[in-house]
Amino acid sequence: MTSSITIAHLSDLHLSALHKRSHIRRTRRALDHLNALGVDHVVITGDITADGTPEDYRVARSVLASAGLLASPRLTVAIGNHDVFGGVHTAEDVLSFPGRCARTDDKAKLKEFGAAFQETFQGTLMPAEKRIFPFAKIIGGVALIAVNTVAPYSRVKNPLGSNGSVDDRSFEMLRDILADPVIRTRRKIIALHHHFHKMRETREGTVHSVWGAIERQTMKLRGKSRLLKLFAQHQVDLVLHGHIHRSAEYLRDGVRFLNAGGSVLHEADPDLHINLIRCTASGCTTEIHRIPFENLPARISTSLVHSEASLTAGHAAA
Ligand SMILES: [Fe+2]
Ligand SMILES: [Fe+2]
Repeated sequence: MTSSITIAHLSDLHLSALHKRSHIRRTRRALDHLNALGVDHVVITGDITADGTPEDYRVARSVLASAGLLASPRLTVAIGNHDVFGGVHTAEDVLSFPGRCARTDDKAKLKEFGAAFQETFQGTLMPAEKRIFPFAKIIGGVALIAVNTVAPYSRVKNPLGSNGSVDDRSFEMLRDILADPVIRTRRKIIALHHHFHKMRETREGTVHSVWGAIERQTMKLRGKSRLLKLFAQHQVDLVLHGHIHRSAEYLRDGVRFLNAGGSVLHEADPDLHINLIRCTASGCTTEIHRIPFENLPARISTSLVHSEASLTAGHAAA
């Protein structure tokens, strides 16, 4: 690697044509900011839309296009559970949502996601089998590897669509990608949606509560151990994710993780957060930028931005 590469990491934008239009404003502000910073590449790790409808994708495409990001060299995306199964927005949704999840054709939704962001998949490297995920993308000396962690619907294992898993075929393909000589010689960054937090760390004081129990059963990634082992074995530099709406950096089994779930929808903080990753031949450094949001004019002054010196573990759901 001859020069450094700067990557901005966001997640869980939950862009919608029908609900919470503030998410659009907040995302535009974040993207304006990172364009002002002049980052080389942007990674969004899923839940880009609230419900994965054609209208939601039109909104998402418009927001990304206006920031000049609808191009493979500029943007890498991973899919999240909301892009496949959608979410709950009204009291009526609470009752109908499990049925909606059961009726969802996850393979069709994956294709819709691929079509919605097709420009960003151009020129990606992937094993012979024609699938959208996993894939690798070379950005200078960095290999970005995107993985689909959205588990199919299961009445027992995934009744609300929010649990994650990586199927055996995808795992084998991921293993092949990481072993490829083109990838092996570069800094390796994985992009996926589901988190690797230990769930007892995700809600202080509610570990034994009913909500804590529900959260642990409906927000988890199955098969974390074999993924952790694979990442460690191939000396993956960083794993980027979202799903839990917090911003945090943490270690699991020697593997470094960055959560951007709080980039625009931080559960406990109205400010915006962008994870910045700078990679050189010797390694990658990370930083979480906080952007005060409330009542600011349309354009952000970079002087308002400061980095968080200490990165804390995440504590919120989605
Ligand atoms: Fe999610
Ligand atoms: Fe989310």
